[in-house]
Amino acid sequence: NQPVRILGVGASVPQKVITNFDLEKMVDTSDEWIVSRSGIRERRIASESETTSTLAIEAARIALKKSGVESSDLDLIIVATVTPDMLFPATACILQRELGAENAACFDLEAGCTSFVYALSMAEKYLSAGGGNFALVVGAETLSKVLDWKDRATCVLFGDGAGAAVLGLGEKLGIISTHLGADGGGANYIEVPAGISRMPASIDTVQNRLHYIKMAGNEVFKFAVKIMEEASLKVLEKGKIKIEDVNLFIPHQANIRIIKSAAKRLGIIEDRIFVNIHKYANTSSASIPLALFEAVQENRIQEGDIILLVGFGAGLTWGSALIRW
Ligand code: ACO
Repeated sequence: NQPVRILGVGASVPQKVITNFDLEKMVDTSDEWIVSRSGIRERRIASESETTSTLAIEAARIALKKSGVESSDLDLIIVATVTPDMLFPATACILQRELGAENAACFDLEAGCTSFVYALSMAEKYLSAGGGNFALVVGAETLSKVLDWKDRATCVLFGDGAGAAVLGLGEKLGIISTHLGADGGGANYIEVPAGISRMPASIDTVQNRLHYIKMAGNEVFKFAVKIMEEASLKVLEKGKIKIEDVNLFIPHQANIRIIKSAAKRLGIIEDRIFVNIHKYANTSSASIPLALFEAVQENRIQEGDIILLVGFGAGLTWGSALIRW
């Protein structure tokens, strides 16, 4: 079987920066609290005209350029997101129209913050099963639009952004293994309760602020540390790779304490961990591809390196991918 390779990556974030000091003026919080509890110093926030698709398009254009693949050669577009432009049509279809990728099948995939890893795994399986030659996978979010800017427990933790990867069949290099999982028992730990089938939008849902993210932070924290370790070990076992052979660990950027605890349990040394949470906060499905893009830009990844991606998120979900770059 030919491995599926990441041929090029791209990313895009809004211009507007909101620092912890800005947040101090909006809710009862402090830079000291946010930095010590999460590692976040600032985040990017979309303007009114910026949406998930506009960020996704910019990231996708860069990834296409870097990969040398024409948009008309794409056979598949998956947008991994929990904040699509609209409930339907799929944001992937909007991307297809803007990119002129008329030969691509398009859909969105939602698996909480793990959506990008899920989408990467689905695209890999699709290409390796003969579904086509090239796929575009984009993790894109405008979480600021579903944040309750009066809730200090959540609004300080999230940000907006997008990251994209173009996939194609490789010869030796490429995705070695992926591992995905879920536990619906934790479905109520992170949710946006209203707006669709269970609780359609009404004056009550708006007045009760039910269109915003609700999160049981402590429960998610405990789950995250454990699952980051387990998901990493599973994908290493599947790929028959030892942890000491991993050149770069790119975890979902939700909280520096989660990242450090997971890395410690796994025995990964600090200079092999990629961290950019201080600049962007938790960008959900965008966090891993955005980190991957920056790691490539900063020459932290060389051809042949082993990269370990691992994420977790609402659902609850988790996923990991091992790549020979
Ligand atoms: N500023 C100041 N104080 C705050 C803030 C804030 N922004 N937010 C909460 N507090 C207060 C709380 O009210 C609490 O006060 P109390 O003790 O008087 O009740 C106190 O700080 C401590 O709160 P804890 O929840 O115990 O703080 P903790 O150290 O656990 O950190 C955090 C909280 C950062 C939310 C952590 O639990 C966490 O990161 N959890 C994981 C969240 C996560 O990763 N979510 C993303 C999931 S992915 C997805 O799919 C969306």
